[in-house]
Amino acid sequence: MSQADRMSENVVGTFGLPLGIAVNFRVNRRDYLVPMAIEEPSVVAAASHAAKLVRAAGGFVAEASSSLMIGQIQVLGLDDLPGSRLSLLAERERLLAVANEQDPVLVGLGGGARDLQVRIVPETPAGPMLVVHLIYDCRDAMGANAVNTAVEALAPLVEEITGGQVLLRILSNLADKRLARARAAVPAEALALDGLDGQEVAERIVDAYALAAVDPYRAATHNKGIMNGIDAVLIATGNDWRAVEAGAHAYAARSGLYQSLSTWDIDSDGNLVGTLELPMAVGIVGGATKVHPGAQVALRVMGVQTAQELAEVIVAVGLAQNLAALRALATEGIQRGHMELHARNMAVAAGARGDLADKVAARMVEERVIRLDRAEELVGEMS
Ligand code: MEV
Repeated sequence: MSQADRMSENVVGTFGLPLGIAVNFRVNRRDYLVPMAIEEPSVVAAASHAAKLVRAAGGFVAEASSSLMIGQIQVLGLDDLPGSRLSLLAERERLLAVANEQDPVLVGLGGGARDLQVRIVPETPAGPMLVVHLIYDCRDAMGANAVNTAVEALAPLVEEITGGQVLLRILSNLADKRLARARAAVPAEALALDGLDGQEVAERIVDAYALAAVDPYRAATHNKGIMNGIDAVLIATGNDWRAVEAGAHAYAARSGLYQSLSTWDIDSDGNLVGTLELPMAVGIVGGATKVHPGAQVALRVMGVQTAQELAEVIVAVGLAQNLAALRALATEGIQRGHMELHARNMAVAAGARGDLADKVAARMVEERVIRLDRAEELVGEMS
């Protein structure tokens, strides 16, 4: 509680979530136990099950790029945007040096300012403006604090060089220089389910994906399923899941059309092949990862040594979650799998506890009627 009091404001308590461990994950030929904090039934089981299918075919191949984040500096009040842009670029070394004075620890660990880019944004509701991007290597930290400190420190210098006025100085959550990607290939025959042969299931998965590739209404749900897995690991490891969510959805819309973050296809050997790529701004040092005792344990359970390794496991979990959802949706639908846990939740909501909750839930599953009013009736009859 005193820890929580130091993490936020007006703290009156802490809020718990079920913490599960997803199993069967093999990523880059290493086995991982994956802590997942999530309230939604079936997510951990589904991830574990899909990971088992992928594991039998050799596991996930995943890769995280370097830990480069972008800090933005918005410059207003300029008459000669191309000229101001060149003036800033001419002072690149001085600006990077000032940025690097802000966090000697991170710089000592090999991180720090790497590059400066200057964009002209010709049309905005407030007229043309310049946006400076500071490219900053955050190493094993998520890096929001380091980047925000650096861009704030650069602001006076940017004003001096351009003669303009700096307004925003803040990190961008569209961390498209910090991408994580995973690939999985599963032999079609392993996918058989619900009386359908594996080939048929694989084809249905590809057809189901096709809608998410072009339709934002479906893509939002498809990507939500991916984020079910990703957010659960982010929360368990004390990472800023809103930052990754924001980056994921902005990345999904980068073509101008909001689309699926994953792709699914069948290769010439008959394997179902999935890929997933998204920005993954995660850390294993700093922020809640360091002060939340649960996050520390979660990171130890996973045994990840770097932020990049954590990003690789997380993107594999997202792909597993997507595979599980598509396989269920393309066959029996997701409700059957959800039914038992949902029934148990209903039974508990109706006041049943322990054995009684199990009995009430089992009866509702048998009757295929899972509703609070029926749970209440059964609690009355069975208790
Ligand atoms: C539910 O939380 C997630 C799904 O809707 C994802 C999807 O539709 O792909 C099952």
